[in-house]
Amino acid sequence: MLKRCGRRLLLALAGALLACLLVLTADPPPPPGGAPRPAEGHPRPPAEPLAPHDVFIAVKTTKKFHRARLDLLLETWISRHKEMTFIFTDGEDEALARRTGNVVNTNCSAAHSRQALSCKMAVEYDRFIDSGRKWFCHVDDDNYVNVRALLRLLASYPHTQDVYIGKPSLDRPIQATERVSENKMRPVHFWFATGGAGFCISRGLALKMSPWASGGHFMSTAERIRLPDDCTIGYIVEALLGVPLIRSGLFHSHLENLQQVPASELHEQVTLSYGMFENKRNAVHVKGPFSVEADPSRFRSIHCHLYPDTPWCPRTAIF
Ligand SMILES: *[C@@H]1O[C@H](CO)[C@@H](O)[C@H](O)[C@H]1NC(C)=O
Repeated sequence: MLKRCGRRLLLALAGALLACLLVLTADPPPPPGGAPRPAEGHPRPPAEPLAPHDVFIAVKTTKKFHRARLDLLLETWISRHKEMTFIFTDGEDEALARRTGNVVNTNCSAAHSRQALSCKMAVEYDRFIDSGRKWFCHVDDDNYVNVRALLRLLASYPHTQDVYIGKPSLDRPIQATERVSENKMRPVHFWFATGGAGFCISRGLALKMSPWASGGHFMSTAERIRLPDDCTIGYIVEALLGVPLIRSGLFHSHLENLQQVPASELHEQVTLSYGMFENKRNAVHVKGPFSVEADPSRFRSIHCHLYPDTPWCPRTAIF
């Protein structure tokens, strides 16, 4: 009896040891439905090399802001990355078309309504799918995109896996009500990346979103929860597909205090912005080469820090 128990104990011990060895040698499993998550969405060692034509950057704008906002982007970051950048607007503009070939007139309403915004996002999504590129990124017309940092970040994830990366605008999941049928509603909660800071989605994930995002479906999905375009993306990805948002502190919108972005870490930031925050002018704090009066958004100064060989950047400036 004792002998049999002893043998059983020995077998159990051997089994446990084997299990331990297996656990120690196996990689930790990725979270369900997603790529392994790095801390804070910072770049990790590259998973695959990326070329500029692998990435599709959609810039959402409206005709009213072509001169006031878009010209600044065309002069700065877009000038270096025309092949990656596609401008989604709501009105014809020959002057704009002459400066860059990638202008899409969405024919959506120019109103800043939920429907008009979802209409543009729907066109962005369809154009990205048609492009065959590996990564979709959406930004607003008040964002500076540091494309080198963006490529470093995206290259650290495989585009075939489920990746949704950006900055949440809230510190908790959003609570919404989902219309399941004509007269049935149910509560739903999920994280979403704020559109004002920009976000990116891998092709692998974008393809899975198709039943709710392609063709006219994005608009009807947005109606189902009655929330804006960026929330609708979070709803499809987190609530319907079960893929968690990878939160990154490298994306920035005008709804945060941009003075807090450390000038010494400008090279690592993926997106920046400017505008108003709590009734005060809000911009990244960066010394020169242009004064705040000459360059209130700070985008020209930031651009000269990142690309000092730009012809219009003062040659004498030492950073
Ligand atoms: C907008 O309308 C024009 C003219 O009808 C058309 O050529 C263009 O393809 C439309 N754009 C989109 C994104 O559907």
